[in-house]
Amino acid sequence: MEIIAKNLIKNYKKKNSPDIEVLKSINLNIPSGQKTAFTGPSGAGKSTLIHSLGLMDRPTSGKVLIDGIDCYASNDDYLCKMRKENIGFVFQFHYLLSDFTVLENILLPVWKEKKLKISYADEILEKVGLSHRKNHFPSELSGGEQQRAALARALINKPKIIFADEPTGNLDRHTAVEIENLLLDVSSEARATLVLVTHNMELAEKADRQIRMTDGKII
Ligand SMILES: Nc1ncnc2c1ncn2[C@@H]1O[C@H](COP(=O)(O)OP(=O)(O)OP(=O)(O)O)[C@@H](O)[C@H]1O
Ligand SMILES: [Mg+2]
Repeated sequence: MEIIAKNLIKNYKKKNSPDIEVLKSINLNIPSGQKTAFTGPSGAGKSTLIHSLGLMDRPTSGKVLIDGIDCYASNDDYLCKMRKENIGFVFQFHYLLSDFTVLENILLPVWKEKKLKISYADEILEKVGLSHRKNHFPSELSGGEQQRAALARALINKPKIIFADEPTGNLDRHTAVEIENLLLDVSSEARATLVLVTHNMELAEKADRQIRMTDGKII
């Protein structure tokens, strides 16, 4: 799916002080299937931008068009439906639920149809190399395994767009490279658009395109 941002602005209001301008009129066109890596210093607005592009955070003004649809013109139910059907998100911290097993965590986004999705979940578990841990709880996994599970959870809805916000920021170099390669491979295989944020230039260089942000702007 194609993602277009038009004049995207995000401000935070703070009592008795000027608004904080986090995104300053971002314009962007990410073609379907492209792998785009955002880099830039801490506080540049990278996470804010990809949360807006990923329909998780309404901008103050401007548009996000996904395959031509002006998503924020619609209500939150629509955004939720769009995310559920088309978008997968991997965060810096895995956000797995500790009381659920790996398999259950992966099935959470599709819980209502979980019985129908078990065989697909097994397929993804195989792909991310976690089949042998599917009935374990997150606390019983290593950091790299937890992030593999988070990646598997992002894939359960067969997303057309995968967002990843410093998906390996927390891992040792060797494990990070393994998971980064996995992320790139599964995106290619699914022909998904990949939008990732990273501080790691080696990973950014493996993307089709690098976009550098500073101070709420693309440079
Ligand atoms: N809820 C909020 N209220 C006020 N300011 C916020 C809020 N959330 C984020 N900010 C500010 O927005 C700016 C951009 O934050 P963001 O998390 O997008 O940066 P980032 O580029 O992802 O940084 P990092 O590399 O450290 O993750 C920061 O200056 C941050 O303090
Ligand atoms: Mg960030």
